[in-house]
Amino acid sequence: MEWIFHNPVKIFAKPGGIQQLPAILAGRTCILVTFAEAQEIGLLDRVRAMLGAQLVRVIQDVQPNPDVDWLGPLYDSVQREQADVPCIVALGGGSVIDTAKALMCRTPTGRFDELLASLQAGEILPAGAHRALIAVPTTAGTGSEVTPWATIWDRRAGRKHSLHQPWTWPEAAVLDAELMLSLPGGTTLASGLDALSHALESIWNVNRNPVSTGLAVTAARRIMNVLPALMRDTANLALRAEMAEAAVLAGLAFSNTKTALAHSLSYEITLQHGVVHGIACSFSLPRVLELALGADAAADEALLSIFETASRDVAVARLQTFLHELGVETDPAHYGVGADQWDQMMRHAAQGPRGRNFIRAGVHA
Ligand SMILES: [Fe+2]
Repeated sequence: MEWIFHNPVKIFAKPGGIQQLPAILAGRTCILVTFAEAQEIGLLDRVRAMLGAQLVRVIQDVQPNPDVDWLGPLYDSVQREQADVPCIVALGGGSVIDTAKALMCRTPTGRFDELLASLQAGEILPAGAHRALIAVPTTAGTGSEVTPWATIWDRRAGRKHSLHQPWTWPEAAVLDAELMLSLPGGTTLASGLDALSHALESIWNVNRNPVSTGLAVTAARRIMNVLPALMRDTANLALRAEMAEAAVLAGLAFSNTKTALAHSLSYEITLQHGVVHGIACSFSLPRVLELALGADAAADEALLSIFETASRDVAVARLQTFLHELGVETDPAHYGVGADQWDQMMRHAAQGPRGRNFIRAGVHA
């Protein structure tokens, strides 16, 4: 069997590790992309004090799931006003890092329309013109700090765009669990389940390899151990650090496989029913696990080892119980999707780009 595993992101992990930002930037100027509450919790002031004149612009009005209507004007103004700034620092969750990845890209005319058109056409932009990205995640789950892709939404058109260039990897990821201590319970849960979903999706995936599967099995076991404990004690730094580490292992796993059927299903559920990503991509995991088991002996072995059983039924039941105990409903009806609509959604999702990564080809509900 032939395979390649590649991930060029330098990972720094340390509570308080955000202090290393000036050393990582090494004199380069940067644009900071962050979330609105960074101001309220004093994080923005800390970063301003740390970076001084190296920080030339702060973008702090990032909305969940960045949309073309908001991102377009922002992109155009950054290309116009900060054309020479070589770095972007993303301090926040998945939407912040996704926004930063779009701002990494430089198109020949510096216009967002051109970026969008090239994404739609599946074109590769010229290498070498991009800005460097330093990702400092404040949630544990998206894995975006170790992957080269981002999702850009277009709600008016009811669709999403995938940004993915050979050079849209962050240069560095700083895992600082102290930044996650104030994360609300709901976001902690959704991002933790997103990470679990990344781990499982990289196993039931046609692009899997022994390294991605090894990382994913470790990640899934650790997430299933730590997430319930963390939900009971969200101010516990050791649990936060454990969750951050498990999430980055899941991120590394799916950085080489992309996601599969559960994520393909989630996009429609997020767009049509407004369900947050981490829940939209995880409530269906037991159903997808049921479909995945039996497709491939090595994948079965990896999946069953996570649930510590030799029985497919027990594995599915354990995953379902795990989600239920965290308060996550696994019935699509709870998310406003009726049985008929679910079957149709499943067929549609299986044909999408991520759905085609699913280990069982041509799956139908
Ligand atoms: Fe995800």
